[in-house]
Amino acid sequence: MARVTPDQIRQMKAKGERIPMLTAYDYPTAKILDAAGVPMILVGDTLGMVMQGYETTLPVTVDDIIHHTQAVVRGAEHALIVADLPFGAFQVSPEETMRQSIRIMKEAGPQAIKLEGGVRVAASVHALTEAGIPVMGHVGLTPQSINAFGGFKAQGKTERAARALLDDVAALEAAGVFAIVLEVIPAALAKLITERTSVPTIGIGAGPDCDGEVQVIHDILGLFPDFTPRHTKRYGELGQSIREAVTAYLNEVRARSFPTEQQSVAIDPVVIERLRTPTKADKAKAR
Ligand code: KIV
Repeated sequence: MARVTPDQIRQMKAKGERIPMLTAYDYPTAKILDAAGVPMILVGDTLGMVMQGYETTLPVTVDDIIHHTQAVVRGAEHALIVADLPFGAFQVSPEETMRQSIRIMKEAGPQAIKLEGGVRVAASVHALTEAGIPVMGHVGLTPQSINAFGGFKAQGKTERAARALLDDVAALEAAGVFAIVLEVIPAALAKLITERTSVPTIGIGAGPDCDGEVQVIHDILGLFPDFTPRHTKRYGELGQSIREAVTAYLNEVRARSFPTEQQSVAIDPVVIERLRTPTKADKAKAR
């Protein structure tokens, strides 16, 4: 099976086909998502929170994104892999955005770049798409602006804010994005945006009417112990399963019931017997 392309993602919207997306940050998870048929994988800067334990995504660096994207690229053969531009990589200028994006594309090998923002990043997005780098937009509750928002708060709730979001989406569409993440905005606004734009919308906390949905893999698997965002749903309790497995291991090691012969390497008992019998040299040393 060939790798999913940005154009196929656009066609999925045109055909009314839903577009599921998940994050992954490592090789085994990428392999599992790929085998399950996930069409798009995001190496999001949420890795700062769920993999590194930071309170926000702000400390994540381009080196972090490259490190995790390399692992995901090695694991997923079919999914379209999108790497996130972290805070600081695209705020300075379109030139800096291009430099950092090219570095990620060359060193990690994803098929697309995602960055947060609308009108204010449109010039950078345009430069990237002109350079042949597919770009995914991201508007609404953009976590890199958490300090300006005063917390993880829903966006686009007033007429003014909703109009600003519509302008952001129009600017991203004109700049050539192949998809746009809509994060934590009212469901009815997400529906309106999805109807108005030809670009596939990928929701997270944006209601049921977006063209697709993205979730953080740790949230849906019950692997992030600190908190569960309201917009997610648990499809597994892997944290609990891991804890149970680790407890069973501890108990068996303490009880000497693991490892057994089954996990051990054999040797001719004669060799051991000889090792137990002191040699002349051993006797000389003992004197
Ligand atoms: O970084 C990330 O994982 C994201 C998704 C939550 C959309 O941006």
